[in-house]
Amino acid sequence: MPNPFPRSRILGTGHYLPPGVRTNLDLEKMVETSDAWITERTGIKSRHIAPDGVYTSDMATAAARSALEMAGLKATDLDMIIVGTVTPDMPMPATAVFVQQKLGAGVCPAFDLSAACAGFVFGLSIADQFIASGQMRHVLVVGVELLSRVVDWTDRTTCILFGDGAGAAVLGPAEATVGDAKPRGVLSTSILTDGSLAMSLNIPGGGSVSPTTHSSVDEKMQYVHMKGQDIFKVAVKNLLSASKLALERAHMTKDDIDWLCPHQANKRIIDQVMQRVGVAPDKVLLNIDRVGNTSSASIPILLDENRRAGKVKDGDTVLMCALGAGISWGSAIVRI
Ligand code: ACO
Repeated sequence: MPNPFPRSRILGTGHYLPPGVRTNLDLEKMVETSDAWITERTGIKSRHIAPDGVYTSDMATAAARSALEMAGLKATDLDMIIVGTVTPDMPMPATAVFVQQKLGAGVCPAFDLSAACAGFVFGLSIADQFIASGQMRHVLVVGVELLSRVVDWTDRTTCILFGDGAGAAVLGPAEATVGDAKPRGVLSTSILTDGSLAMSLNIPGGGSVSPTTHSSVDEKMQYVHMKGQDIFKVAVKNLLSASKLALERAHMTKDDIDWLCPHQANKRIIDQVMQRVGVAPDKVLLNIDRVGNTSSASIPILLDENRRAGKVKDGDTVLMCALGAGISWGSAIVRI
């Protein structure tokens, strides 16, 4: 069966990483851990940390500007702005609103999407649907996190994992014509959530369940709480099934994939997914060693770095997959 006909295409990508870097050796001075433990258990050596005065929307705007420039579009060309984040500027209004303001975009729907590490894949899927329906022409999808502000820097089980950063993609109508053997565009997406695991990874404070009070702060409820092993077990299984579903929907096999672009949560999870999907190690894109887990920003940062480095080329087929709090997970196949 021929590939499905793509309706939308990634016209441009961009990313932003704050210049400050925190290494495992820096963490050794903060909590009882070691470079050897972190490297062996996660594959992470360092992560970027935003300085005071830099907000989530600042990083998102920087990544969005690069993506618009690559796409050859102006902010006023955007018909929709979707920001995937669990670390918004503030609970209300949406961070997407500040991105709209800072970019100088016109009046259009601008909203946040809370799917944690799967935020970019969820956003890509929504953008694809709106472009396919003809309602929107140019949609900006940003994945951005400032996790260093919601991490307890005295908790060695979480603080070693996360980093700050933003990645963005501008999508527009695919230019492919029916009959193209290898049409460029979003070939398939698959997004899912299993709420039964909601409490495996959360920030319990600051919402209607536990509004911020002196005692909620004393109990550190404003920070990320995670049952790491629970997430680990389900991650491999669900990333595999989501990848298989995206391949099936695109009428493809693993041999059609040029690059696996997985969420950078843990090198051991990535290795197991790579092996089970059946992709060769030299086809797997990685930056976890120097970027860590940037949640929703992870995939668009990785994709943009590799496009700009000339590794991922126009016409290459990329399989993206991500899983995070929710738990929510998803995958997408995109011919760049
Ligand atoms: N340094 C040294 N020792 C540590 C550290 C540390 N930083 N952290 C934990 N340990 C200890 C533990 O206390 C434990 O000690 P014990 O055996 O004496 O009790 C031991 O190391 C083993 O701990 P585990 O939790 O079993 O370690 P594990 O191999 O599972 O690795 C990790 C932990 C890295 C968190 C892993 O479980 C993981 O990556 N999970 C998935 C995380 C993830 O993908 N999250 C989803 C995305 S995030 C999002 O959505 C925002």
